[in-house]
Amino acid sequence: MTQPENQPAFRRCGRSGLLLPTISLGLWHNFGAHTLDRAREMAWTALDLGIVHFDLANNYGPPPGSAEETFGTILASGLSAHRDEIIISTKAGYRMGPGPYGDGGSRKYLLSSLDASLRRMRLDYVDIFYHHRPDPATPLEETMAALASAVAQGKALYAGISNYDPGRTLAAAAMLRELGAPLLIHQFRYNLLHREPEKGLLQALEATGAGGIAFSPLAQGLLAGRYNSGIPGDSRAASSTGFLRPEQITEKALAAARTLSAVAAERGETPARLALAWILRRPEVTSALIGASNLEQIRDCAAAMQSAPLSQEELTQLEEAAAG
Ligand SMILES: NC(=O)c1ccc[n+]([C@@H]2O[C@H](COP(=O)([O-])OP(=O)(O)OC[C@H]3O[C@@H](n4cnc5c(N)ncnc54)[C@H](OP(=O)(O)O)[C@@H]3O)[C@@H](O)[C@H]2O)c1
Repeated sequence: MTQPENQPAFRRCGRSGLLLPTISLGLWHNFGAHTLDRAREMAWTALDLGIVHFDLANNYGPPPGSAEETFGTILASGLSAHRDEIIISTKAGYRMGPGPYGDGGSRKYLLSSLDASLRRMRLDYVDIFYHHRPDPATPLEETMAALASAVAQGKALYAGISNYDPGRTLAAAAMLRELGAPLLIHQFRYNLLHREPEKGLLQALEATGAGGIAFSPLAQGLLAGRYNSGIPGDSRAASSTGFLRPEQITEKALAAARTLSAVAAERGETPARLALAWILRRPEVTSALIGASNLEQIRDCAAAMQSAPLSQEELTQLEEAAAG
């Protein structure tokens, strides 16, 4: 992979023309209703640090839709002056509304959802529109044609998929190529504790020329050392969202997280930065997509854009930690 010499913090997204920052910011948590001031500060801090890619979905909040509304307000109050310097993505695929047209992979749902996302964010277009998860009940041809329509209509510049398995990814990429809207990117869960993408997905991306963006790269905070000494009261696991339940913080995961923290300390880095550098060791990964609950976390993660590659010894230590 070649990187522009003056932009070491960017990587080419697969074999497309688009560069993405190696660290991107997701708005799944902490950008919902009642968080405007903090959300605004986080968005601007990210931009200042070179994290120019903001990832949303129709259902991010809570409540669903409110993260896009918050981001729309942030854009309208100044950030939109930088519209040509930032990448905004959104998605549809999880339940968003009542009835049969508020969920799934139909043309009806995807295109109406994208229109609603654009209204909430007060945008004419998003850079990337994803199908958020596969829908086996809808023909893949229909879902891919809907993504290609969004591109043809200028409402999205690029098409993406998320949570698709390797076989479905290859099929989707072939269809999108035929439709003239090549698959730009696949968004998948990947971290030291979740290695599934190494079993075929990363290879499928290399074969199709699509880029990859890894979500939950810190295992929702676990690999950042957030739970090394218990569950902090202000952490995701202590919140009522249910996305990271205390019982998911197993002794095995904690042991891996503590080893990662020790290896990071030897390098003079924070655990989050090492966990991100570990993900970015793979050339198929264009960007690591973090979440954050405060400015310090964003600053810390942004520093991973400059992290030195891991040594063979560090890689081995982390492999052993993950194996348990
Ligand atoms: N496509 C999909 O299906 C899908 C699914 C999930 C997520 N996503 C995307 O991926 C994004 C990121 O997901 P995620 O929030 O699970 O990512 P993550 O980066 O693994 O976890 C984020 C959490 O880790 C903690 N953290 C972050 N930086 C830290 C640091 N430097 N030091 C200590 N703790 C730190 C914070 O926990 P506390 O909140 O406890 O402080 C933060 O909320 C989402 O916003 C969304 O855009 C996509």
